[in-house]
Amino acid sequence: MGLGTFWGISAGAGDPDWITVKAARILSTVNWVACPQNAAGQPGLAYQIVRPWLRPEQTLLPLHLPFVTQPEVLQAAWRVAAQQLAPLLERGEDVAFICEGDVGLYSTFAYVAQALRQRIPALPIQAIPGVCSPLAAAAALGSPLVLGSEKLAILPALFALSELEQACAWAEVVVLMKVASVYPQVWQWLAERGWLQQASLVVWAGWPQQTLFPTLEGLADYQPPYFSLLILRSRPRNQDSLNLENELQLE
Ligand SMILES: C[S@@+](CC[C@H](N)C(=O)[O-])C[C@H]1O[C@@H](n2cnc3c(N)ncnc32)[C@H](O)[C@@H]1O
Repeated sequence: MGLGTFWGISAGAGDPDWITVKAARILSTVNWVACPQNAAGQPGLAYQIVRPWLRPEQTLLPLHLPFVTQPEVLQAAWRVAAQQLAPLLERGEDVAFICEGDVGLYSTFAYVAQALRQRIPALPIQAIPGVCSPLAAAAALGSPLVLGSEKLAILPALFALSELEQACAWAEVVVLMKVASVYPQVWQWLAERGWLQQASLVVWAGWPQQTLFPTLEGLADYQPPYFSLLILRSRPRNQDSLNLENELQLE
């Protein structure tokens, strides 16, 4: 009996309809669906997103993958997850590991896959890309994320403000992921530059509770939830791009 495949399934950033046809097809064929669990030990957000696409007879494997930064805690959690999944894959079962957004953008998929590879060097691993939160957020705001020759920088919010400064010097558009943890400092930094009008905050993109803040004016005391990201325009769009954006008026 050959090895099963470890699939990285991008669930998309919120709306269940954002899952790709391929991801939905693979999900419909596997017997085992692994997912990060939440703090209460229940299947987390990725599960909530793909739930409409699952069948009752599929077995759900919630994995303890804590939201911490200590490398030794994380590595131990990835090893335990690999230990749980390896016996299935070794007996030829395919396992779909679902992740919120895209599996390639600040996702735990790569770490669990690496821990599995260390246990089973010949393991087939495949990632299916999906709708990531920066693109979902831009669509929610009704504006293309980048146009023409605009450069895009994405910061994981474990940044220092000097990194934000550098990103803005280089890129016309800067996306701050996990902005909740640094929001007060970022708001202050933007206010000092007179850039509050150039920054937008998107909270829970694609979820029923989605909230849009097209500018950060007056939001000094706002406390964004973890599922928030900030899109900052470091300089104005050129006239052609502005005209295009105005004519489009995406909804
Ligand atoms: C660990 S990263 C995961 C990113 C995810 N893999 C993706 O492709 O978007 C978590 C961060 O992504 C952002 N994020 C993910 N989904 C979001 C959503 N639906 N709305 C707003 N921000 C989101 C937030 O900044 C959050 O703190």
